[in-house]
Amino acid sequence: MSWKERIIALLGGVALLLPNPILAKSSSPGKAKTIAELAARYDSTSCKECHEEIYEEWENSLHARSMLGTPRTAPTIITAIEKGIKRFPYSGVKKDEDITVKHLMFCAKCHLPQLDEATDDVAREIVATIKAWMKEDDDDKLEALEAKIESLNIGCLVCHQKKALIHKWADGYPQSDTVYGSQVGEHEDENHPKMGKAPALGEAIFCGQCHGQGPNFELDHPSQCATLYGSYLFAYIPEGGHESCQDCHMKKSGLGHDMQAYRSEEMVKMALDCEVDAQSYFWRKNKKEGVIPMGLVRVEIFNKTGHVVPDG
Ligand code: HEC
Ligand code: HEC
Ligand code: HEC
Ligand code: HEC
Ligand code: HEC
Repeated sequence: MSWKERIIALLGGVALLLPNPILAKSSSPGKAKTIAELAARYDSTSCKECHEEIYEEWENSLHARSMLGTPRTAPTIITAIEKGIKRFPYSGVKKDEDITVKHLMFCAKCHLPQLDEATDDVAREIVATIKAWMKEDDDDKLEALEAKIESLNIGCLVCHQKKALIHKWADGYPQSDTVYGSQVGEHEDENHPKMGKAPALGEAIFCGQCHGQGPNFELDHPSQCATLYGSYLFAYIPEGGHESCQDCHMKKSGLGHDMQAYRSEEMVKMALDCEVDAQSYFWRKNKKEGVIPMGLVRVEIFNKTGHVVPDG
């Protein structure tokens, strides 16, 4: 018997039934049982007070509505369930009640990675909420449902805690009392009183966790959506490209946490070099048809981004 087991034995059988801080790998708060609980755990509004500018930038980005999307994402998740998962003979899903976290991870791996901290009830609540939102006619109710879907997002703590440490054997596992960035020390936020170092936060690999390389082979049924990080790694870098995602999307663009693409003028300006050369001439095909006017337009487009466009 190890010393831990001895202590537990001494404390009696009841201790075995309680969440045990000695045995827990980190200060894990257990699974969230509702959308509201999961949203509260990853709520970004408490960060606004002190990081106002960053909050406002983030709020305008698609990361702030990663389940709703433009709002094309939420309905597409339903399509994936109805036209995909429910029709696959071995998925175990015939009706909405059969849906589990594992099934939604097909999309949530990147659109809501913290779903792995929720019960299967939350997966079913998400599907029910999106379906209700798609059917709702009443404006007030529609708004409330939309807000509920939006409350599930890639907020500050998804990047600065959950996904912040990539090489966990070297850098450790993220702790719920810590925000990770470039510094180590005390953090003024009473709910997250510590700052820790995330060595790869400023590097492309950090964004690559969700921006995809190809099929997600670790899933029982690999899905494929974003693959842009693959083109960054295997086309841009070998061609001599050396800027990171953060260099272009956060710094050069001046957009900071409002990470954008073609919807932003700043990004469009950086996107391509385009040369157009046009000429017109007349061509006599045969006497009967007469003179045919012809135009020749030569367009050369050079992709200056660090990856394929479009993606996703
Ligand atoms: C590998 C991570 C990953 C997975 C898995 C994934 N997505 Fe995506 N998805 C993204 C990223 C990143 C973007 C946005 C960036 C882009 O366009 O490249 C995106 C964009 C989208 C868009 C367009 C966004 C919009 O608002 O119009 C839709 C729709 C979408 N995903 C639906 C899904 C659905 C449905 C699934 C599950 C079947 C899924 N995705 C699985 C990462 C992923
Ligand atoms: C999609 C991931 C992502 C999200 C979401 C995100 N951040 Fe960041 N944040 C980063 C990255 C990456 C950097 C580092 C940039 C670098 O070093 O090149 C950073 C840097 C920072 C910094 C330090 C540098 C600075 O700009 O002052 C603070 C503070 C910060 N983030 C706070 C927040 C807060 C607060 C939120 C929520 C409102 C948030 N972040 C949401 C990825 C994210
Ligand atoms: C009461 C004020 C306060 C609140 C609330 C707060 N922060 Fe901070 N945070 C700070 C201050 C001040 C610093 C900068 C410390 C420094 O630069 O020396 C900081 C630093 C950080 C850093 C490290 C940035 C770096 O330099 O790399 C991150 C990441 C961060 N905060 C994220 C968050 C997140 C996420 C939340 C919400 C969960 C949050 N903060 C809430 C005050 C706050
Ligand atoms: C936790 C997963 C995750 C991380 C980490 C992440 N993203 Fe995203 N990102 C997404 C998803 C999901 C979307 C699409 C949301 C939607 O519309 O459905 C997205 C959207 C975007 C978009 C907008 C694309 C468009 O079509 O307008 C840009 C730009 C972007 N991300 C850049 C970045 C950069 C740069 C980083 C790293 C600093 C990063 N992201 C880190 C998941 C992530
Ligand atoms: C050299 C600068 C540069 C680098 C490096 C770069 N991007 Fe981009 N990216 C851009 C520009 C400019 C656009 C806007 C082009 C457009 O969408 O029309 C863009 C567009 C995007 C889009 C939207 C694609 C779409 O469907 O239109 C996403 C998502 C994105 N970038 C994410 C990333 C991520 C993640 C990385 C790092 C792996 C990265 N970018 C590296 C400049 C860059």
